[in-house]
Amino acid sequence: MSSLSSSSPSSSFDVVVVGAGAAGLFCAALAGQRGLRVLLVDHSEKVGEKIRISGGGRANFTNRDLDVRAPQRHFVGDNPNFCRSALSRYAPQQFIDMVQRHGIAYHEKHKGQLFCDGSSQQIVDMLLAECAAGNVERWQPCKLGDITHVDGRYQINSTRGPIDAPKLVVATGGLSIPQIGASDFGYRIAEQFGLRLVSPRPALVPLTFGGDAWAPYAGLAGLALPVRIETGGKKDKMAFLEDLLFTHRGLSGPAVLQISSYWKPGSPLTLDFAPGTDVAESLADAKRRSKKRIANELAALVPSRLADAWVGEDPALQRPVNEATDKALAALSERIARWQITPSGTEGYKKAEVTAGGVDTRDLSSQTMESKQPGLYFIGEVVDVTGWLGGYNFQWAWASAHACAQAL
Ligand code: FDA
Repeated sequence: MSSLSSSSPSSSFDVVVVGAGAAGLFCAALAGQRGLRVLLVDHSEKVGEKIRISGGGRANFTNRDLDVRAPQRHFVGDNPNFCRSALSRYAPQQFIDMVQRHGIAYHEKHKGQLFCDGSSQQIVDMLLAECAAGNVERWQPCKLGDITHVDGRYQINSTRGPIDAPKLVVATGGLSIPQIGASDFGYRIAEQFGLRLVSPRPALVPLTFGGDAWAPYAGLAGLALPVRIETGGKKDKMAFLEDLLFTHRGLSGPAVLQISSYWKPGSPLTLDFAPGTDVAESLADAKRRSKKRIANELAALVPSRLADAWVGEDPALQRPVNEATDKALAALSERIARWQITPSGTEGYKKAEVTAGGVDTRDLSSQTMESKQPGLYFIGEVVDVTGWLGGYNFQWAWASAHACAQAL
């Protein structure tokens, strides 16, 4: 690392922002527009790659339903209240106003989620235009080497020469999707300066179930249906009503991505495949009035592929419903309304939309995002603040960037 050029004179700035993703681009733009001399550095050739691939290419850039009075409703972390200050000073509407000023058309999908009508590249272009308006200097690709703090200034070796600034903003994101530039840079800098970390882990990620245990369900790959999904015990129970997707290796879809941020290894998930329906009562009623096969009756409550698979597992269920025992129907109802299964793991950082954990919020100011190390700031996903699926992670990136930029 120290072999990176350090003999030439340093380029001096008021602020160096490391990471030209969602948070870094926005923070650099706002700081530049406040008149600061800002350098934005990224080791990748392209900026904002996660924005570009987000939301299926249309970027779910914020969420109108965000409730800043109760951030624990939409954010996970050791201290979910930490994000309240930044989120209350930069609301979704403020980002929406900027999107409108740039003439970007958008629409609301489900549960307050806002997406571009066109391409997510429009959001990247908007942020770049905002950076240009703030005369932000950009260096990319540019790799950083050793960082030292001497006489109140950060001195950084880089592949484009030494850099020097009194303020350093780390916006290098989490570990998800390493193939497009994710790195542990932010965590290493935090540790170098004695800040604590909450162990990073993949979140908003599909869950897997090990080869043999999953074999009976692998044939359901591709099946999607609304479910209620739950994990945790009395004190930390969490549940979502969302769509589930069966895959060849396990479970995915919004329901599973959401619950994955709360799931603890070794603990089970409980799924209700017919939320809002009393399956036991419906089957008992069918037994009184129908001679159809159980699988056919069940198919009125859940998709027929699921009905066939569940009934196919038990010979006692392969008969007309009026010939079934009450015990067999009760057991079937239980498996539809309270199916318990324990994941063996997750699909990992390759498939995770975000990284939970990160720089411990106890070592950061919730007002400014400055750490206990003077002049060193952390914003966006590198911090131990993880949003739900649905635009909350971008809103955290915008809000934490804004809080930081106001304080630089
Ligand atoms: P981000 O990851 O955006 O940027 C980090 C930057 O730092 C990158 O440009 C990287 O190259 C750079 N970097 C890393 N290490 C470096 C180093 N050592 N030196 C220099 N630069 C370095 N969220 C949401 O709200 N709505 C959505 O629709 C989606 N969709 C979505 C889809 C997919 C497939 C993924 C993977 C993620 C999402 N997300 C999302 C999550 C969202 O993309 C994410 O939370 C934000 O991009 C985080 O913003 P940051 O700026 O913190 O990190």
